[in-house]
Amino acid sequence: MFAFASSPLAAHADRRQWLRGLAGAALLATPVKAATDGGVLLRVSHVVAQETPKGLATSRFKALLEQRSGGRIQVRIYPDSQLYSDHDEIQALQLGAVEMLAPSLSKFGRIGFPEFELFDLPFLFTDVAAVRRITQGPLGQRMLGRLSRQGIVGLGYFDNGFKQMSANQPLLEPTDFVGLRMRVQASRVIAAQMRALGAQPVTLAFSETRRALAAGVVDGTENPISNFWTQRMHEVQTDLSLTAHGYLGYAVVLNQRFWLSLSARDQALVSQALRDAVVFSHQMADIQNQQALDALREAGTTRIHIPSPAQRQRLRQAVEPVHQALSLRIGAQWMTEVNATLTPSISG
Ligand code: LMR
Repeated sequence: MFAFASSPLAAHADRRQWLRGLAGAALLATPVKAATDGGVLLRVSHVVAQETPKGLATSRFKALLEQRSGGRIQVRIYPDSQLYSDHDEIQALQLGAVEMLAPSLSKFGRIGFPEFELFDLPFLFTDVAAVRRITQGPLGQRMLGRLSRQGIVGLGYFDNGFKQMSANQPLLEPTDFVGLRMRVQASRVIAAQMRALGAQPVTLAFSETRRALAAGVVDGTENPISNFWTQRMHEVQTDLSLTAHGYLGYAVVLNQRFWLSLSARDQALVSQALRDAVVFSHQMADIQNQQALDALREAGTTRIHIPSPAQRQRLRQAVEPVHQALSLRIGAQWMTEVNATLTPSISG
């Protein structure tokens, strides 16, 4: 699946995966609902730093759930790909090695839910309010409901925000991308977006991205600034272009067997804590991305570029064909419903 199967990077990734496999196997020995006497243990794995919108929302979920259950439900968080990376975390969830994840929406296409890749369509959303019309409405709930086909319970959506482009040069015009190797998540839509710009998409796990940038294996990438900053990508990328061309958010998902093993009362506690954490994640997305931008300016390692309206329009035009080309993969019916939900706020 990874582009550099025989590189030192891949060897390192294999070792990490093997170590994680051992950790996973040890965890598998823990029965569902095991924990303190009569209590419940809920293990959460994610790939980003704790000081990100997703990390902070997860911490809020933990604090609320432990407090409201009087400590009977314990939440243990494994951040920063400590336990699993993008390409093995969903399998770990399905096996019951962890109970909860919050993968980016871009990562559900490859497990049979390509409709989630609609969130990756470039320039689809004018702002986060438009995104929330989908995620907080009936369409978003229906999408979560479909995950049960794979033994996954979808409980809600965390926000991050809009992605920016980084490289060792400004990325303001479509011509700037030509020939660059750009790290992408495992999303066909994002890969098509990079190709439409003339770049070569390279799928890599999030945990491998900084190292790949540092080694020059890839030239650039895209992510909200909170991820860029907390992974210290500013130390290995000289330029960040504030293109805000696409959205990054997360689906909070649970292992179905674990969910069904909970009492109705505990399910209600988990759902309520999650609803509150979702609201918190909406606030944190803006705050964390702004703070990361301030910190980046302060650090002075990376030039920050703001595209002019005309440059942004040219980027938008260059990636416009991706909407049509990928609508079959996403599903024509989903696209019709999304467009109807977003109208009249569709960027145009
Ligand atoms: C990425 O892989 O670029 C991001 O989705 C990581 C994350 O979970 O924010």
